[in-house]
Amino acid sequence: MRNLGPERFQSNRFIRKLLHLADASSTDIFYDLGCGIGQLCVVAVTEFGVRKTVGFESHRGRAKKAEKRVKKLGLDDRIQIKNEDFWQSDISEATIAYFGLTESEEDVADFEKKLIPGCRLVTLFLPFVGVVPKEVDYPFYLMQLPFTKTKSASLWISTVLFKKATFEELYQELDSDKEYGYDKVTFKRLVKERLINE
Ligand SMILES: C[S@@+](CC[C@H](N)C(=O)[O-])C[C@H]1O[C@@H](n2cnc3c(N)ncnc32)[C@H](O)[C@@H]1O
Repeated sequence: MRNLGPERFQSNRFIRKLLHLADASSTDIFYDLGCGIGQLCVVAVTEFGVRKTVGFESHRGRAKKAEKRVKKLGLDDRIQIKNEDFWQSDISEATIAYFGLTESEEDVADFEKKLIPGCRLVTLFLPFVGVVPKEVDYPFYLMQLPFTKTKSASLWISTVLFKKATFEELYQELDSDKEYGYDKVTFKRLVKERLINE
């Protein structure tokens, strides 16, 4: 199992921000890859009219709580909660996916295999290392399959920080960001593999 992440859920205001960024609508199927208590799925259906949503949650207690909430709200015909590791599941139906966890080594390659072309993938705090986001509404980055890989390290850094900067300045900013707890070792390794040794 990769990083499970904390029991920290987003407010409706942030959820709306990320669904607006993805331009969610009634033609979409939304997957929350690590759904906690399922609130992203609830807002996607009730406020954005998304056709169907699936929330994956590998923590049994959280998945149970999400299922109960969805039933209580009478939304179980449009929201499915799966107590599964999404990496082990078929997610190819998604037209929008949300991934709020920190990036691990294999994630880009795995998403390229698992998600369909055209799928919009929203991440939190950072885009995948070396992938150019299509749109940004910080703290959310929207990337689309097939991923656009950056032409240069400086271009990627400037899409992350919204200014030109060096790698050292990038690390300093991320280190000093109290909101964002990142896996610095993995991040630096990915930067080295994808941006420095290009
Ligand atoms: C920080 S919470 C975010 C919940 C919700 N998406 C939100 O933004 O409010 C992340 C959740 O992802 C779950 N998770 C982590 N890795 C997972 C995996 N591989 N498959 C399913 N759930 C996972 C964790 O158990 C945790 O509840």
